[in-house]
Amino acid sequence: MKMESLSKYFKVLIICLLAASTHAQLELGFYAKSCPKAEQIIQKFVHEHIRNVPSLAAALIRMHFHDCFVRGCDGSVLLNSTTNQAEKDAPPNLTVRGFDFIDRIKSLVEAECPGVVSCADIIALSARDSIVVTGGPSWKVPTGRRDGVISNLSESIQNIPAPFNNFTTLQTLFANQGLDLKDLVLLSGAHTIGISLCTSFSNRLYNFTGKGDEDPSLDSEYATNLKTFKCKNINDNTTIVEMDPGSRNTFDLSYYSHVVKRRGLFESDSALLTNSVTKSLVTQLLQGSLENFYAEFAKSIEKMGQIKVKTGSQGEIRKHCALVNS
Ligand code: HEM
Ligand SMILES: *[C@@H]1O[C@H](CO)[C@@H](O)[C@H](O)[C@H]1NC(C)=O
Ligand SMILES: *[C@@H]1O[C@H](CO)[C@@H](O)[C@H](O)[C@H]1NC(C)=O
Ligand SMILES: *[C@@H]1O[C@H](CO)[C@@H](O)[C@H](O)[C@H]1NC(C)=O
Ligand SMILES: *[C@@H]1O[C@H](CO)[C@@H](O)[C@H](O)[C@H]1NC(C)=O
Ligand SMILES: *[C@@H]1O[C@H](CO)[C@@H](O)[C@H](O)[C@H]1NC(C)=O
Ligand SMILES: *[C@@H]1O[C@H](CO)[C@@H](O)[C@H](O)[C@H]1NC(C)=O
Repeated sequence: MKMESLSKYFKVLIICLLAASTHAQLELGFYAKSCPKAEQIIQKFVHEHIRNVPSLAAALIRMHFHDCFVRGCDGSVLLNSTTNQAEKDAPPNLTVRGFDFIDRIKSLVEAECPGVVSCADIIALSARDSIVVTGGPSWKVPTGRRDGVISNLSESIQNIPAPFNNFTTLQTLFANQGLDLKDLVLLSGAHTIGISLCTSFSNRLYNFTGKGDEDPSLDSEYATNLKTFKCKNINDNTTIVEMDPGSRNTFDLSYYSHVVKRRGLFESDSALLTNSVTKSLVTQLLQGSLENFYAEFAKSIEKMGQIKVKTGSQGEIRKHCALVNS
């Protein structure tokens, strides 16, 4: 190729790349020029604090999931209710433990570069960083998300899967976000850490079909154990249960071991066994290594982190994560 045509070729290439970048695209190190210390500040704060409260890592990754499933990953999960009820008020909301944490990070980042770093990116970055601190998987977090201005309780109820959802409903809710069955299986694997209130599943123990019965898809020995030592009656709304008993702070494969032993806590966990595709994915994960799980989990959560993101001039950079700018 002649020099001339070569340079023409590169010009065309560059124009194509520029055109692509004006579309909704996140990029690694989006704040490298506008706020070079941002990611470091977030990581440092997370490292200093999660070590003492590893359970917060669970709250943060769950917050990231809830944020992305309602109006895309736009920080709407952080907004306070105003005249309408916000996503924050959707039950169950153990996630509440993470709100204050994000606010503290936001104020450090605002002190460094006011009005530059979005709350949506702070959620995505701190979720990843906190899982890394607990020894779990790492994944790429391209940035440049902008914050939304709307948070709506009923949209949250419509879009976020519920613990009582069956396979079909889960598949639909994930597909609505552009996520497939593999993503469903892998992202459900986040239940390897964290806790649940009894109320999220006590119908399975006490009144599954309204006849005072147990959910037959739950291991009966495990159900008895939960009723005896944890959720002592159907109205217990304060006791918390580890979703992955014995290793609630360790991001390992044992969630899937519980699921195949019919000890998944929620119907949504058990539902992974009711479809041949997801069942075989669970089996494959258990046959593979921890490194394999981490690598596959990373792919799915990177996908989740891109759901309907706002970029460029969409949305805003909130000053306070709980409030839209006035
Ligand atoms: C597949 C559909 C899912 C359903 C039905 C579901 C449901 C739930 C429920 C009901 C709880 C307990 C909340 C409470 O009792 O207050 C919970 C906790 C949790 N979920 Fe999920 N979840 C799903 C997927 C996910 C995904 C995709 C992630 C993250 C990638 C995730 C991460 C977590 C974590 C870490 C906790 C523990 C939170 C804590 O300890 O504070 N879940 N989930
Ligand atoms: C948001 O609501 C919480 C709890 O209701 C409250 O503590 C907090 O001060 C509110 N944040 C702002 C910025 O108004
Ligand atoms: C949590 O949800 C309950 C309803 O289940 C609601 O009354 C409460 O205000 C919510 N808490 C926060 C901090 O939003
Ligand atoms: C919230 O979302 C629901 C369902 O999409 C919609 O009907 C309702 O008007 C919305 N509420 C507000 C205040 O925007
Ligand atoms: C799953 O749940 C939905 C909504 O509750 C229901 O309409 C559907 O019939 C259920 N599907 C199966 C296979 O049970
Ligand atoms: C079980 O569910 C049925 C139907 O919803 C209800 O009538 C009954 O009171 C419930 N029993 C308990 C112990 O909550
Ligand atoms: C928990 O249950 C008690 C007694 O049944 C009730 O008074 C209280 O409002 C419930 N709390 C929540 C957060 O639902």
